[in-house]
Amino acid sequence: MKIIITKDYEELSRKAFEVMIDVVRNNPNAVLGLATGSTPIGLYDLMVEDHVKNGTSYAGVRTVNLDEYAGLSPQNDQSYRYFMKKHLLDRIDVLPENTYIENGLAKDEAAECARYNDVLSRLPRDIQLLGIGANGHIAFNEPNTPFETQTHVVALTENTIKMNSRFFKDENEVPRRAFTMGPKNIMDAKKILLLATGANKAEAVRGMVEGDITPALPASILQRHADCILIADAPAASLLKK
Ligand code: F6R
Repeated sequence: MKIIITKDYEELSRKAFEVMIDVVRNNPNAVLGLATGSTPIGLYDLMVEDHVKNGTSYAGVRTVNLDEYAGLSPQNDQSYRYFMKKHLLDRIDVLPENTYIENGLAKDEAAECARYNDVLSRLPRDIQLLGIGANGHIAFNEPNTPFETQTHVVALTENTIKMNSRFFKDENEVPRRAFTMGPKNIMDAKKILLLATGANKAEAVRGMVEGDITPALPASILQRHADCILIADAPAASLLKK
């Protein structure tokens, strides 16, 4: 794993932008695996700024997202589709039909998971962007998800529900279930870029980089990826051996 430690969130976002824009400029038809959450917002802002100022085009780019809440429509302002449109997709020239995310309203969940696995195998990702949960989750793969798992529906842990409740008026409004790519899908990307910020991620980052490779810490599987870059700010990297 290649590790880049930055002094703060701004520098982390700039470094992440350099990695991402390199992929897009080298391949105008790139497939970008994207993530939601607070961590990538600075990166998305820089991609938008670059698109506006320098004209970098996403007209041939395809995007696939990690996860989506079950039961929320794309118009719901808490859905991940809505988040992606607001922070990135509606602000660049990517074609809406080239942006993929699980359908939170799918009635037949097994069929939806199979459909998404099919999308992922048709669109091999040039890069997959990830955040990390304080418990070491990646996408919505909570501790003890088997590494071979592909797209599936998960019941969110109390910890994740609590963390996500900051985006909702009331903790009771946070959906309890979500569709998510599995660890196997994530590992299939050619390159992985994981961003970690803040002291509350430090223990998970330490486990991911220096701990055993174990489903108890889902992100630890990334040690097995041939091209994985971790960009962490100083607080998130604070427990790493110097
Ligand atoms: C987002 C996702 C999650 C987040 C993680 C970190 O699509 O799948 O795994 O990356 O929960 O979230 P933030 O960035 O809000 O700390």
